[in-house]
Amino acid sequence: MKIVTVIGARPQIIKAAALSRAISNHFAGSINEIIVHTGQHYDQNMSQVFIDELGIPKPKYNLNIGSSSHGIQTARMIEGIEKILMDEKPDYLVLYGDTNSTLAGAVAAAKIHIPIAHIEAGLRSFNKSMPEEINRIMCDHASTLLFSPTQTGFNNLVNEGFNPANKAPFHADHPGIFHCGDVMYDNSLFFKALANKRQNILRENNLEDKAFILTTIHRDSNTDVPERLSAIFSALLTISEENHIDIILPLHPRTAKLMETNLTGNLYNRVKKSDKLKLIPPVSFLDMIVLESNCKLVMTDSGGVQKEAYFFKKPAVILRGETEWKEIVEAGCGIIANAGESKIIEAFEFYNNNNNTLSFPKIFGDGNAATFICQTMLDNLL
Ligand code: UD1
Ligand code: UDP
Repeated sequence: MKIVTVIGARPQIIKAAALSRAISNHFAGSINEIIVHTGQHYDQNMSQVFIDELGIPKPKYNLNIGSSSHGIQTARMIEGIEKILMDEKPDYLVLYGDTNSTLAGAVAAAKIHIPIAHIEAGLRSFNKSMPEEINRIMCDHASTLLFSPTQTGFNNLVNEGFNPANKAPFHADHPGIFHCGDVMYDNSLFFKALANKRQNILRENNLEDKAFILTTIHRDSNTDVPERLSAIFSALLTISEENHIDIILPLHPRTAKLMETNLTGNLYNRVKKSDKLKLIPPVSFLDMIVLESNCKLVMTDSGGVQKEAYFFKKPAVILRGETEWKEIVEAGCGIIANAGESKIIEAFEFYNNNNNTLSFPKIFGDGNAATFICQTMLDNLL
């Protein structure tokens, strides 16, 4: 079987490691994977670092699309991916998540009748002002095999009309839906063992043997709206100053650029001068695991990071108005604080006082999602 996998944005590159590892461990003789990098993310620390560190095969193609408006970026990707699909004629196009690279792959493949396997299917924020919500709905509805990481995601698909009783042979008008666990849980289990051997990131940032908070911010709904970005940073300053706690922030390039213009008043200067807010460039995935597993709690608007907080049994203050991972909130391990300054501070205080009473039920599978996905594609060759 030949598959083409599209990667482009940071989280997809990381997710792809799980499938590539399962192929090389269990399906080397039966699955030939060709990787296409759209170039949506291109800085060394947003892309190549993961390919090198996580053992992902070198992409055969890099479209080098880079940054642009949604329309231009997606259109250029569609053009490039279509040509590759026509040349390679794979049995499946594998797509991850909900980025513009995902949408471009879905449009390109669906129109030339190449079956799509969508990993992370069914997730919904029910907020169509999010570009990702549009991307996921469109991709799911063009797919042939839909792999949902959670029961909620599976239920969302059923609610949208996908029939869980469908039997093979599957095709785009008769898709198969599967609740198979999360490939990122597979990855976190696997890479935790490697990450345990390195603690440099803690040493370099003077965080050894200290309670600290890990924060990431990159959603356009936060970075592009001055009031929201300012409320979040103002809350971070208050929390760090009043509690004498360090906050480490590996900064997404989008945030690094927009902070300068979108933080109001003298907030930008206060943030830059703070010795408690540690703003650092994006870190590698292994370093991220070290930070996630050693921090006291996580504050984030990232989908991936709130989930990894849960994998490593850390509570998450969610800097958005909703989450696709509602199991985390239902388990009491995440609080939706949105971009409300006082809500963020209250959520921090809640977890600061109740950290030891949390439990983290196993809701993201058994660490073998990628193997299941590979086997299901093989069992359903058209
Ligand atoms: C994208 C995804 C988002 C995902 C995130 C993961 C879409 C619509 N959004 O958002 O779902 O959560 O990736 O990180 O696909 N930039 C650089 N260097 C890079 C990459 C980006 O400087 O290597 C800067 C550019 O100024 C660019 C901006 O970041 O304009 C945004 O990048 P883009 O890929 O368009 O969106 P993200 O915010 O990264
Ligand atoms: N990540 C990383 N280094 C960083 C920030 C994030 O390796 O500096 C990883 C993180 O551990 C997770 C993924 O990137 O696996 C999440 O990506 P991001 O937050 O950019 O996107 P989202 O998951 O929200 O789509």
